[in-house]
Amino acid sequence: MAESAESSESTSTVSAGILTNIFLQIVQSPLNIALVGVILFLVYNIFKSRNKDVQVRPAEPELPKLKKKDFTVEELKKYDGTQADGRVLVAVNGGVYDVTRGKRFYGPGGPYAAFGGKDASRGLATFNVTAAGEGYDDLSDLTTMEMDSVKEWESQFKEKYDFVGRLLKPGEQPTNYSDEEDEQPSVTAEQPSVTAEKKKDD
Ligand code: HEM
Ligand SMILES: *[C@@H]1O[C@H](CO)[C@@H](O)[C@H](O)[C@H]1NC(C)=O
Ligand SMILES: *[C@@H]1O[C@H](CO)[C@@H](O)[C@H](O)[C@H]1NC(C)=O
Repeated sequence: MAESAESSESTSTVSAGILTNIFLQIVQSPLNIALVGVILFLVYNIFKSRNKDVQVRPAEPELPKLKKKDFTVEELKKYDGTQADGRVLVAVNGGVYDVTRGKRFYGPGGPYAAFGGKDASRGLATFNVTAAGEGYDDLSDLTTMEMDSVKEWESQFKEKYDFVGRLLKPGEQPTNYSDEEDEQPSVTAEQPSVTAEKKKDD
């Protein structure tokens, strides 16, 4: 009975034979078994960490969105996460971003706390967490490659965090943002973390 069924469906028997062969080759080599184990472990961890992200993020209390505003270096300094509200701002390439959601990075005690309330451009471009000096930094001595790196970081910050305003050069006048905000409330209601998540899946 079994034999006649096999001969009438020879193609499926052949493909089943190939699969069995592959399976046996994998199982017979201890190295292959180990590799398959490692792959399964990594895949399991990727899925586990994704689920964790989804569960942990909404639990964090979110501060009200900061009104759009430009900052001098001096004004920015206060927002290093040590204030009562714990808000953290970071400037990159002349733009100021609310990175409070990334407080574990830029807040007090975080690995990049030196960037909190500072212009991080030079530090990010030179991979030097302590590179933020006092006063305004015009970045004019950075190489083309370093400026490219700054721009790359800038686009990452734009995607992940809320843009708050510009970092002002000494003597530069702040932009009056009140008009724009009244006209385009939908832009301010955007949720960057959700859109970033969607892009990743696409
Ligand atoms: C041994 C060296 C380093 C290691 C192991 C490391 C590790 C990491 C890891 C794992 C993350 C991702 C954390 C997460 O998304 O959960 C991260 C993010 C980041 N790292 Fe590093 N890093 C190192 C050096 C640096 C240096 C030198 C800089 C800049 C000067 C830097 C700047 C950043 C920034 C800005 C982020 C993004 C945080 C955010 O999402 O806002 N890292 N790093
Ligand atoms: C990082 O920047 C600080 C401040 O400018 C400097 O003292 C230090 O030597 C730099 N570190 C490296 C590894 O370049
Ligand atoms: C900003 O613009 C608004 C509306 O046009 C105006 O009422 C306000 O006085 C302006 N503020 C400054 C500082 O110019």
